[in-house]
Amino acid sequence: MRTLLPPAPGSAPANSDREQRVRELGRRIAAGQAAAGGGRTRVLEDRGMELLSRDPALKAALFRLVDVAPACSGPREVAAHLASLLGEVERPLAPVKAARRASLRPSTRYAVGSVAGIAVHRMAKRFIVGAGPAEAVPALQRLWTSGAATSVDLLGEATVTAAEADRYAQRCNEALRTLARAAANWPAQKTLEADSHGPIPRVNLSVKVTALTARVRAEAPELGIEDAKHRLRNLLRTAKAVGAHLHVDMESMDSRDLITELVIQLLNEPEFRDGPSAGIVLQAYLRDADEQLDRLLEGYAAAQRSLPLTIRLVKGAYWEHETVEARQNGWTPPVFEAKVESDRNFERLTRRLIAEKQLVRPAIASHNVRSIAHALAHAENHKDIEFQVLRGLGDDLQQALAGMDLRVRTYCPVGDLVAGMSYLVRRLLENTSNDSFLLSRSRGDDLDQLLAAP
Ligand code: 2OP
Repeated sequence: MRTLLPPAPGSAPANSDREQRVRELGRRIAAGQAAAGGGRTRVLEDRGMELLSRDPALKAALFRLVDVAPACSGPREVAAHLASLLGEVERPLAPVKAARRASLRPSTRYAVGSVAGIAVHRMAKRFIVGAGPAEAVPALQRLWTSGAATSVDLLGEATVTAAEADRYAQRCNEALRTLARAAANWPAQKTLEADSHGPIPRVNLSVKVTALTARVRAEAPELGIEDAKHRLRNLLRTAKAVGAHLHVDMESMDSRDLITELVIQLLNEPEFRDGPSAGIVLQAYLRDADEQLDRLLEGYAAAQRSLPLTIRLVKGAYWEHETVEARQNGWTPPVFEAKVESDRNFERLTRRLIAEKQLVRPAIASHNVRSIAHALAHAENHKDIEFQVLRGLGDDLQQALAGMDLRVRTYCPVGDLVAGMSYLVRRLLENTSNDSFLLSRSRGDDLDQLLAAP
């Protein structure tokens, strides 16, 4: 293990020059966001979202509606589900009571069902760029010409059979080829295509290991590693052949160590010494994220690759899952329970990634303007830091960052509503949580307060 000591949490005094700089940058980004879309994301303007964020039981009911809606034959069936789910809400607020009554009444049942069905589809359209890679190309190209790179995520997770895993791998291989053919004709974008390390591929695919193997089990990680390895190796070969970047997403804690080991083992294989460009994810809400980073740096240094490892720093999208699972098993949750602790860790890890510039291309993936401004204020060269946002949530932010000539990449899910349901649920959960940065902004919370050091 490396002995590199991370700077202590909150080590930057609030009144230092650097802190001033963080606030200045934060205000500039926020102004750019406001110019792009009025400072509110569309998602949070929805009255429904506001309600959702205030009522956990309603939230739970609607998430289950989202789960069943794609399988419903029509609006009436959606309404019936809605009514029974709302019926489970204890002590419903007045709007919930009204919705429940309307969804049961024959005269309004159809309308309520349609609205719920439309809401689910609208939400999916906002977050998903196309049904398949070829259909997504025009949207990806529009983003590129507007100054944003993309990472494509083929929806569909947690496969249960080997045949499904093979199919997912095949779809990924095809996507890499389709996207590479299309992107070859895009206009040059200086900011998006190079940093101090050298060229950055136009095509970037994010993959989920739980879709590449049906055998992810923390108790027997060797089985999962071996099973996923040949499929991921194939993807690395294709990415190398077409000059694309392959990014391995992180999911919940039960597969975290497996994925880390898998990526390190593969990137240590001699055939990948000079390519492709590859990356992995670090989740700042994990209490032991520093140890994962130690492990990654140590393993990656051993590979002596000619390219840096892209590390996408995220807060983490499986907070509910981790907390519930830990509670059920009587464990201490692996995640920080207070948002401020995750935010502090995010900043500390940002500084560590920036300090590892020989080995690492940091990709700061957050919608929190403070976290972004903090990264910018600490980067020696803005060219060497990438920002990542999610399609449908970070659109205004993406425009603001592109407008400042920063390198921004938008994570773009591709697929259909059914395959995308768990993705959509994660987006809803994180963006209706009371401490979501976007929600605070949309509620009009004071910008200076939001930009203060965590
Ligand atoms: C997720 O799938 C964006 O990878 C992240 O939730």
